[in-house]
Formats: sequence, C-alpha cells, structure tokens
Amino acid sequence: MTNRREFIQYTGAAALATAAPISALAERRRPLPTRPIPGTDESLPVIGLGNSGAFRADDQSVASTLIDIFVEHGGRYIDVGGPSRFSVGKLAVEKDVSSALFMGNYLDPKDASTMHKEAAIVASAQGKSALDLVHTRNLKEFRAQHDRYYALKEEGLVRYIGIARSGQQNHDAIGGLVENGLVDFIQTNYSMLEPEAVDRLLPLARDNGVAVNINRPFINGDYFSVVRGKELPEWAAEFDCQSWAQFSLKFILAQPAVNCVLTETSNPKHAIDNLGAGFGRLPDEAEQQRMLELLRSYT
Ligand SMILES: NC(=O)c1ccc[n+]([C@@H]2O[C@H](COP(=O)([O-])OP(=O)(O)OC[C@H]3O[C@@H](n4cnc5c(N)ncnc54)[C@H](OP(=O)(O)O)[C@@H]3O)[C@@H](O)[C@H]2O)c1
Repeated sequence: MTNRREFIQYTGAAALATAAPISALAERRRPLPTRPIPGTDESLPVIGLGNSGAFRADDQSVASTLIDIFVEHGGRYIDVGGPSRFSVGKLAVEKDVSSALFMGNYLDPKDASTMHKEAAIVASAQGKSALDLVHTRNLKEFRAQHDRYYALKEEGLVRYIGIARSGQQNHDAIGGLVENGLVDFIQTNYSMLEPEAVDRLLPLARDNGVAVNINRPFINGDYFSVVRGKELPEWAAEFDCQSWAQFSLKFILAQPAVNCVLTETSNPKHAIDNLGAGFGRLPDEAEQQRMLELLRSYT
C-alpha cells in the first residue's frame, strides 16, 4: 500500500506537499465534468470513490491522501458504509471539505427511532445538517425502509433516497422501485463484462428521472485479470483513453443515464488514473461495440 509520503515522491505532486488548503488546490485545477441529478439544480462529477479498504480499515494516512486527490480533482461522491461513514466524515470535517463532498450512506436500522438517531449521529460526524444520500443493499426490506427514509427526508435530515444493489438478478426489482417513484438514486453494476443493465434498467432510470451510480466498474478487480498482459489498443487514444482502467470507465460513462461511476482503490496512483477517465472524449456507439468485442475475445 502506498503512503502519503511515497505518493508525493513518485508523482512529484508538489501541490499536495504545500500548506495550501485542499479547497484552494481544487480551484486551481480543471475540475471533473459533472452530470445533473435529474429534476434538481445539483450535479455530480462523473467519477466517484467507492468504499475503499483504506476507509474501512480507518487507515488515516492513505484515506487522507485519497480524499486530497479526489477533492483536488473536483470529485464529490464517496460511497461510505459501516465504519467508513465515520472515518471519511472525520477526515472531511478536519480538512474542511464536508460541503464539497457528497456522501452515499447505507442506513439500515429496522425501527424509526433508531434510524432517526443513527441518521443524526452520522450527519453530525460528516459535518452536515442533512445526509446527502441514504440507501440500503437490502432489496427485500426496501419498502419498509423507504417509509423511514422518507420520514427523514420530510424532516430535512436526508436529501436523497436510493437503492444500491449489484447483480443482474436484481435489476427487475430495482426497476420496479424506479417505476413506482420510490427512489431518487439507484446504484447498480454495468461494465463491458457485465453489460445487462443497458438493455432496460439504464433507459428506465433515465426515462423516470432517477440518478444512476455504477458500482463494480472493475468487477472488484477481476477485470484486470482479464486484461493483464494485453496491450491497450492504439485506437483507445482516439477517445482519450490512456489505461485499461480508463478503458472500462469510459465505456460506462458513454451511457448518458449514468451520473457517476464508483471506483474502489486504496492506491493513490490508481485514484489519479481513474479520475483521468472523466476527461476528454467518450467512445461513440461503434467504438463501444469494438471495445465489447475486444474484451469478449479475451474471455
Ligand atoms: N451496494 C452494492 O451492492 C455494491 C456492490 C459492490 C460494490 N459497491 C460499491 O462500488 C464500489 C466499487 O465496486 P467494487 O468493490 O466491485 O470495486 P471495483 O472498483 O470494481 O474494483 C476494485 C479493484 O480494482 C483495483 N483498481 C482500482 N483502480 C485501479 C486502477 N486504476 N488500476 C489497477 N487496479 C485498480 C483495486 O485495487 P487497488 O486498491 O490496488 O487499486 C481493487 O482491487 C465499492 O467500493 C462500493 O462502494 C456496492
């Protein structure tokens, strides 16, 4: 694992070594492109950070470096579950970047009073008066949870409600929540090796004005096993793609329904690589087809 000092050495990231506040550094850099959250005047940058192992383990040094890099590039969405809700929240408050970050929280208590208490504690830990987004991975209990989430939203303690679940077998159930107007956000999987969401779920979310965050862009690392030892095709440069990680992220971002892709890493070098996918051109339909065919030829 790379620590902060090593990162500064190998990237020559002088900006990070200065005493300038992170928010000031972000202003000097060209920020990530954003996409609007449907039906609002708020937008999210296209690359997000997943619930990193460094956040879960409360590795303050790496977590701090990841947040610095992320904010410096204009990143906003961080997916935080369990202890990460507090470790990321604490760092965000210390760095005075709480308002710059949009945190996707998992909130699962099964009764309204415990849910309320937990929401207030997490919001305070994150330096916010309202949690940006609450969701659950528990599809079966979503409808019961929704009433509790909705009560928090009505009270101003939560801004957006969502469901987060990967797996093609869950797409129909997620689609049902979209059609019934129960969610502001969905989070699900979509990539070259898991492309099924493009058939129905992504267009459905778009038609119903629901924001989409994509998880598993690298299938939790399995994607890199598929492309290991293969040379990135020269034609990837035609859509400003410089690495295999960007190859996957740009394929995902080529879908207009997608707001933000959640990338998980504990490696600052990888975080910079992933953020790079947000810039430049995206592959058109013919290029996406070529990308799919290339990946399929490797499996
Ligand atoms: N709610 C749900 O049902 C659900 C399910 C799955 C995931 N998620 C969310 O989605 C996020 C991402 O999905 P995921 O967990 O499947 O992880 P992922 O982002 O698909 O893959 C993470 C893996 O890719 C490696 N990696 C990342 N960037 C890289 C780069 N530029 N070059 C080389 N390797 C790189 C990481 O290793 P290093 O650490 O070495 O970079 C790690 O092994 C999660 O963190 C979580 O927040 C939600």
